[in-house]
Amino acid sequence: MIKREHWGSRIGLILAVAGNAIGLGNFLRFPVQAADNGGGAFMIPYMISLLLLGIPLLWIEWALGRYGGAKGHGTAVAVFDYMWKNPVAKYLGFLGVLIPLIVVVYYTYIESWTLLYSLSSLIDSLPSTPMTDGVENYLKPFENFLVEKIGLNSESSIFLMPPLETYIFFLITLLMNLYILYRGVSAGIEKVAKFAMPAIFIMAIILMVRVFTLTSPDGRNFLDGLGFLWNPDFSALSNPKVWLAAAGQVFFTLSVGFGAILTYASYIKPKDDIALNGLAGASVNEFAEVILGGSIAITASVIFFGIAGTELIASKGAFNLGFMSLPAIFANIPFGQFFSFIWFLLLFFAGITSSIALSQPAIAFLEDELGFSRQKAVFSLGAFLFITAHIPIFIKGALDELDFWVGTFGLVIFALLEAVLFFWIYDSKKAWQELTRDNDIKIPDIFYYIMKYVAPGLLLVILGFWAVEKLPEKLSQSSAGIWIARGFILAVLILGIVLIKIAWSRRNERASA
Ligand code: TRP
Repeated sequence: MIKREHWGSRIGLILAVAGNAIGLGNFLRFPVQAADNGGGAFMIPYMISLLLLGIPLLWIEWALGRYGGAKGHGTAVAVFDYMWKNPVAKYLGFLGVLIPLIVVVYYTYIESWTLLYSLSSLIDSLPSTPMTDGVENYLKPFENFLVEKIGLNSESSIFLMPPLETYIFFLITLLMNLYILYRGVSAGIEKVAKFAMPAIFIMAIILMVRVFTLTSPDGRNFLDGLGFLWNPDFSALSNPKVWLAAAGQVFFTLSVGFGAILTYASYIKPKDDIALNGLAGASVNEFAEVILGGSIAITASVIFFGIAGTELIASKGAFNLGFMSLPAIFANIPFGQFFSFIWFLLLFFAGITSSIALSQPAIAFLEDELGFSRQKAVFSLGAFLFITAHIPIFIKGALDELDFWVGTFGLVIFALLEAVLFFWIYDSKKAWQELTRDNDIKIPDIFYYIMKYVAPGLLLVILGFWAVEKLPEKLSQSSAGIWIARGFILAVLILGIVLIKIAWSRRNERASA
């Protein structure tokens, strides 16, 4: 067997894990979700979800990863197989490879836009319009720019036609990801995190200070922005959608339920701590989310566009806030080019440390289950990503469809499987022992009950809501892009089943030889 890789140092591990968690979600998705769902009051369901779902599931995923890593396996495929002596277990575990793999197919593309925007700011090729009245008018040139860059202006009803430049930036981004993965866990991922994480914090603080010293011609300042985000609207708490949004954001930001944490955790030493490392990574992420993420994009937007304008922008989604509203603001302040450059560079760093995390489960699967060398695994993944990324790049509606199935639905299912397999099928006493051994801090006993009853119960409720609220609507939609995306997911599933069959028949041959 190939000797398993390990993280080089504890600080490196925590930064890598924080890099996994800190992504576009912290700086774009969080402020929009909070603003849309009760402002300051959103923090109540958010904190409750963090305690009852986020942290417990995070620890479960860490424990599963450490358990698998000690046996030489870094994905849920083998881990589920060890825990449940049923032939379907390993196929269910494949969700922990499939979900991050499909996400990375479109995530890398979005990540490449941030690089494109960052360099465009530097060479001053973003639109620059003077402030006119009406948010819509003002943002129009920025909207047109985005539409052109991602090819939304294509006449075809099926195809998008992004310009060559966009495609080249995608290729560069993909190659950078592959190079880091090729260098490996410690010399690649960890090294990048040690550089990118401090850089993200420095850039975020520079931007925050700039936003906090910004005033609009009609006298609004950052207090208006913070007031807008944090003023609690408690009536929102009676709306189940707000609770669902909070739970969704907690999952997304902690990267829980994707299988990516499990894989990172499999590279710690068999007797290393998971409780403190998991909590440290989560804390760094929460600081980046609530303090930094909450203070940049939304705050700047309220100062410039007022509350009504910001609500309009936020209601159109996180991308509008990041890719239109912020560059529009920077176009109107001194040294705006510089701030725009670091804003998008910050997003790029946040993105790349997440996309390498999303790729690692597939690499671990190829290495651990099929005996690929790292080079061969990275090369295979590269070929796969290069080919399949053409789907979200060129086909209308595919990106959203992929994101729905894996990025919002799949993760709830996978998280539920992790909790149920560990605490109900494997054995709750053994699970608790595995979770609490060799840690540097004690996981409070109450988490036993939270992990066994509360978290899976809540996940079932969330799933029920999804099934009723979103599924019928989703299933009734149909377009070429949607069917191509669904077919693609199915094809990857079949590929996974075939590869697992091959891996296990080889294993059995070896066992009987
Ligand atoms: N947490 C990341 C963010 O906030 C996004 C993400 C979700 C992710 N799941 C992941 C990143 C799994 C890496 C691995 O943007």
